Amino acid sequence: MSTPPAGRPDLQAYWMPFTANRAYKSDPLLLASAAGMHYTTPDGRQILDGIAGLWCVNAGHCHPRIVAAIREQAGRLDYATAFNLGHPAAFELADQLVKLAPENLGHAFFVNSGSEAVDTALKIALAYHRARGEGQRFRFIGRERGYHGVGFGGMSVGGMVANRRTFGANMMPGVDHLPHTHDLARNAFSRGQPAHGAGLADALERIIALHDPSTIAGVIVEPVAGSAGVLVPPVGYLERLRQICDRHGLLLIFDEVITGFGRTGAAFAADTFGVRPDVMTVAKGITCGAVPMGAVLVDRRIYEGCMTGPEQGVEFFHGYTYSGHPLACAAGLAALAVYRDEDLFGRAARLAPVFADALHSLKGAPHVIDIRNIGLMGAVELTPRKDQPTLRALEVFRRCFDRGVLVRTTGDTIALTPPLIIEPAQIDRIITTLRAVLAEVA
Ligand SMILES: Cc1ncc(COP(=O)(O)O)c(C=O)c1O
Repeated sequence: MSTPPAGRPDLQAYWMPFTANRAYKSDPLLLASAAGMHYTTPDGRQILDGIAGLWCVNAGHCHPRIVAAIREQAGRLDYATAFNLGHPAAFELADQLVKLAPENLGHAFFVNSGSEAVDTALKIALAYHRARGEGQRFRFIGRERGYHGVGFGGMSVGGMVANRRTFGANMMPGVDHLPHTHDLARNAFSRGQPAHGAGLADALERIIALHDPSTIAGVIVEPVAGSAGVLVPPVGYLERLRQICDRHGLLLIFDEVITGFGRTGAAFAADTFGVRPDVMTVAKGITCGAVPMGAVLVDRRIYEGCMTGPEQGVEFFHGYTYSGHPLACAAGLAALAVYRDEDLFGRAARLAPVFADALHSLKGAPHVIDIRNIGLMGAVELTPRKDQPTLRALEVFRRCFDRGVLVRTTGDTIALTPPLIIEPAQIDRIITTLRAVLAEVA
């Protein structure tokens, strides 16, 4: 095994997630520190962060108030179990989250990631139906191209083929999928919500009829599909899903792991689109990415419905050692305070048209076949290279990084989801860089 260059760690032991390990280790990119809108590399180069870390650092990196809150908490109470014990910050954060969320969501269950939030949400749905005597409702309906993390539940309701094929034999049973809403022929270059496709929600009626509504526990969708390349819901689509769920007694679960905390220009995408879910999963921006955390927010009737059995008995046999971890709660409280005091959700809404104009100015650039946007969430879809899907987008990513701009790729789509503190001049820099790189790549 070769010795790493001086000052660089040996890269071999770490099996990196969602990474081409061999390619990465032969040409690694490392980050050493971060502040505000920028990362700094070990050799001192500044990288403008166009993707908020991984759709999570909504108030920018190393926000001083969030850093101070974590430091202070670490020195005062490092850990407390959430099983039959508690600490004030967990209760306070739950209270603040439900006050921020749509009015019907009255309770928060803490987890440590988006994947755990999704699997927990599915279990809550099953527990709720069982508690009210409808334990035969065991099926879930997800959507093609949906991403709900990597637990067995989230993977099963998810619809990203590469994440599923290896584990196919062990998918959760009883899952079906709605068609995705991506429609280049009718909706390419839509600004905001595309006009066509509300009728795709009617596929839910057919799936429900096939399986019998009394067997279905819930429907889970991302209000805006993120990891599949920022697929904005067509006008009227989410409303129809809501109506159909209501008609058949299904719980509607919004996975807001990406869209939560200002990304769409309001606290949650549920607010942006005016559709209330029964259950909402959040993570990422809940702590501004600074400490791992997720939460499941549930409608009051779901919590009340689960509070059955003897008063001394555990009502829901589920939880994690690190549920409501003190450091995560401290980071969460500080992040919410920063979002509020700096009006970052309002800022995202005000910047959204500037972002949309800049993004859509790439129409006509080489390889570009679609541009999509909502709030501070955007995507530029490229034609794939013949027989080499994803490689053109990966080259764009690399060339942008070399010019000091971080973008993300998913398939042949470039995703842009900057921290909500971005300045118009920085939006301009990202787009100018992307334009130049698109002109270079074959
Ligand atoms: C919508 C959605 N759900 C769930 C997850 C999984 O979150 P985590 O990676 O924190 O497990 C993600 C991650 O990107 C996501 O985008």
